[in-house]
Amino acid sequence: MGRKYRIAVIEGDGVGPEIVSEALRLLGELGFDAEYIKIDAGWKYYEETGKPIEDDALDKIRSTDALIKGPVTTPVGPGTYRSVNVYLRKTLGLYANVRPFKSFKNVSLRELDVIIVRENTEGAYSGVEERFDDKAISYRIITRSATERIVRFAFDLARKLGRRKVTVVHKANILKESDGLFRNIFFEIAREYGDIEHDEVIVDAAAYKLVKRPQIFDVIVTPNLYGDILSDLVAGLVGGLGLCGSAQIGENYAAFEPVHGTAKSIAGKGIANPIGEIRAAALMLEWLGEKYSDEKLKKLSRAINSAIVRAVEEGKVLPQDIGGTAKTVDVTNEIIFKSKTFLKHSP
Ligand code: NAI
Repeated sequence: MGRKYRIAVIEGDGVGPEIVSEALRLLGELGFDAEYIKIDAGWKYYEETGKPIEDDALDKIRSTDALIKGPVTTPVGPGTYRSVNVYLRKTLGLYANVRPFKSFKNVSLRELDVIIVRENTEGAYSGVEERFDDKAISYRIITRSATERIVRFAFDLARKLGRRKVTVVHKANILKESDGLFRNIFFEIAREYGDIEHDEVIVDAAAYKLVKRPQIFDVIVTPNLYGDILSDLVAGLVGGLGLCGSAQIGENYAAFEPVHGTAKSIAGKGIANPIGEIRAAALMLEWLGEKYSDEKLKKLSRAINSAIVRAVEEGKVLPQDIGGTAKTVDVTNEIIFKSKTFLKHSP
């Protein structure tokens, strides 16, 4: 019998609870053996308790093998709580935000296969801000240690996955010190990876080129804010935010979530696209499978990803955000059915 995993779960806000429960149902149906430890966090919890996340959340999370989460509301502006996501990334040391994007035939606006690796702990999200009456200052911190770590991560990932090129996206022509440091460290480290091509693109040109000709990109490594913005842009090209999943990886721990937010206007209607959350679950299985040399989990992850591609490209059971009429539960059922078929026919 395989290992029984302990997984922390944050259901989140808006559509979070309905898509997280679907992803966990799918994992159960496909034989993933896990004990789930629920952590309360987000807007609803804040309204009830005055706190954005449980006091002992970190201890509970650290006692588990990985965290799967739904989107959590981050209120806008001063006077409210700071992002639960940023708090978790920093305290758990989840320094690499990895977002793989691959186009679907018949659905995507462009043909592409791009992985965005975003520095996840500093940059514009350092959280160091000051306000002086009508002037506000945000510190955009870039350090050598965090930059070396994320750049090495991107090159190692490219090598592991047999990818051809890593591109650094920055704005070092204007932000000469901060982005200049990020860029220069990238070129220093690139020399250690002679087998992988490397180049650079300024962030505004990157937005343009991603739309015009995304095929020129392979793996992108970039500071925090650019990665956040560009990944929504690429999600749009793929066909919708609801299709894309994300991994946040540290030295010994990782968290998995969809790329999208709480999609409040469709919450509770049973029509949210569950695929981003299911992709997150598949990324979790892949990471756990590597960490614990668990071949069963790797196989499960491959089956789920193949099932998603087949379901979306076949187009018979599509969620509403990509032009279909299917309910959340029907989309999950379709992916469960197709995953089981892939599992039956794979060695
Ligand atoms: P959003 O991603 O919630 O919504 C953008 C658009 O995409 C909306 O039209 C929404 O209906 C649609 N959409 C997103 N996910 C969908 C799904 N699964 N199925 C169908 N349609 C979907 O972005 P927005 O409005 O900027 O953010 C709302 C809240 O989510 C904010 O409080 C924000 O801070 C939070 N957020 C949380 C994230 C996280 O926890 N990782 C990530 C991004 C945003």
